Order: sequence, then structure tokens, then C-alpha cells
Amino acid sequence: MSWVTQTFSSTLGRKLIMSLTGLFLSVFLIVHVSGNFQLFHSDEGLGFNKYAVFMTTFPPIKVVSYGLYAFILLHAIDGLMLAAKNRKARGPQRYVVVHNQSSWASRNMAILGTILLLYIVVHMHDFWWQYKFGEVPYRQYEQSMTTGEVTSSAYNGPAIKGKMEEFVREDTQTRVTIVKDLYAETKAAFANPLLVAFYLLGMWALAYHLVHGFQSAFQTLGWNHPKYNPLIRFVGVWVFGIGIPLAFAAMPVYFYIKSLGA
Ligand code: HEM
Repeated sequence: MSWVTQTFSSTLGRKLIMSLTGLFLSVFLIVHVSGNFQLFHSDEGLGFNKYAVFMTTFPPIKVVSYGLYAFILLHAIDGLMLAAKNRKARGPQRYVVVHNQSSWASRNMAILGTILLLYIVVHMHDFWWQYKFGEVPYRQYEQSMTTGEVTSSAYNGPAIKGKMEEFVREDTQTRVTIVKDLYAETKAAFANPLLVAFYLLGMWALAYHLVHGFQSAFQTLGWNHPKYNPLIRFVGVWVFGIGIPLAFAAMPVYFYIKSLGA
């Protein structure tokens, strides 16, 4: 048996794959949440729209993105197979509830992961698919090169090649950016309270999934040491279990509240 089939067929091999892909996805979440903070800038979406262009056109990031899609699938399939195997191994004993030996999150990783997978499918359909294959309108921004002040308007000019065109208007000293307006799509999506509620459910699942998953990955990989365990626990709980899900949750809530005042 080759080491590849051996890794995939043993429980330990499966857990190693879960841990490595899970840690990669955790790093992706840090990058994603940091970039999305641009949504809170008061620049009418210029920074966010330019960031989306960079993330989807810069070749090294595009390559990492394909790895990301593969890792999401691998992590999900591997996790579900591992959960099914554990369930079968436990047999009728699975009905005996032993609450004090494991946390609620650790016993429900497969359910939390399934909610997250459903969340990612809906999320990628609404944003990623729309952005790549849908009809996202363009917006024209004019930014003063002396004061940095930004004004914007809907773009109705000749067709644009690609996602963005940028040039400098020397006479007025302004930088003109015509870019696909993903910011407006985001704003419109989060005016829908049902979608906002779905996102909050997703972030609740993310919080519990990461609180257990982050620390568990270090344990599986043998990267735990009495000296560093408190730090791993702290990062697992405060950064991945609380900070990142709360920051993501703040985005739909922010746009929903804004939509009420519009
Ligand atoms: C709630 C706040 C969030 C907002 C506003 C948001 C927004 C976006 C947008 C606009 C895109 C498409 C543009 C791009 O590809 O760069 C995107 C892509 C994506 N998002 Fe999110 N996102 C949020 C949360 C999340 C969470 C919590 C996850 C994972 C659990 C996630 C996973 C993804 C993935 C996998 C992609 C495709 C990335 C790629 O093609 O490289 N997002 N998101």
C-alpha cells in the first residue's frame, strides 16, 4: 500500500490531514477577515473593491485560492468520513451520553462542520460566483491626489476590460478608478435580515468549530508542550473562537443597521 492510500485509510492519517488542512483554513480566515475590514472604511467601497481585484487577479494568490478550494473539500469529506467511522466504532454505546469527558463542541464537530460547509456554499454562491460569473456593475471613483478625498458615481461609460481600470487625470490631480462594485453587492445582500441571521448562525458554528478544532490540531500533530499549551489555548479561544467570528459577524450586522437608516 502506498503511503498516500495508507494515510487516507488510517484514522491517524485522516486526523493528520484534518489538522493540516484545518490550520491552513485558519490562516485563510485571518487574511480574509483582515481584508474585509476595508468594508468599514468611509471611502464608498473603493478600498474593498480594489482589494477584491487584487485577491482575484494576483497570480500567487490565485494559485493559493485553488489550494484553498481543494482543502475545504478535503477537510469536509475527511471530517465526515472520520465522524461516520467513529460513530460505527462506538456502536450502540453512542446512545450513552458522557458529558463530563469531552466538551460540547468536540462532540459536535461534524454537525458544526456541516453547518459551516452549507454556509460556505451559500456564501461563495452569493459573492464569489456573482463576482466571477455574474453581472456586477462598475463604479467610478475619483480620488484627489492632494487631499485623498473620494467621490464616486455609477459608471455608464464604454465597456471595461477586466475588473478594473485606473488612470490619473493630470488637470484635476485626481486618480480615477473604474472597478466592479462588489461593495454595493455586499451592502445589498446584508439588507436582507434572513441572510444576516444565516450569517450569524454560520459564525456561531465557526466559533465552536474553531475553539475545539484549533487546539485539537496542535494535539494531533504533536505540537503541544506544557510550556506552550496555555498560549495555544489562548489563541484558540480568544483569536479563533471569539475574535474572528465576532469580526465577521459585525459585517452583516453593520450593513443591516445601515440599511435601516437608508
Ligand atoms: C461575514 C463576513 C464575510 C464577508 C463580508 C465576506 C465576503 C467575501 C467576498 C466579497 C468574497 C469574494 C471576493 C474574493 O474572492 O475575494 C469572499 C470569498 C470567500 N469567502 Fe468570504 N466573507 C465573509 C466571511 C467568510 C467566512 C466566515 C468564510 C469561511 C468560513 C468565508 C469564506 C470565503 C471563501 C472560501 C471565499 C473564496 C475565496 C477565494 O476565492 O480565494 N468568508 N468572501
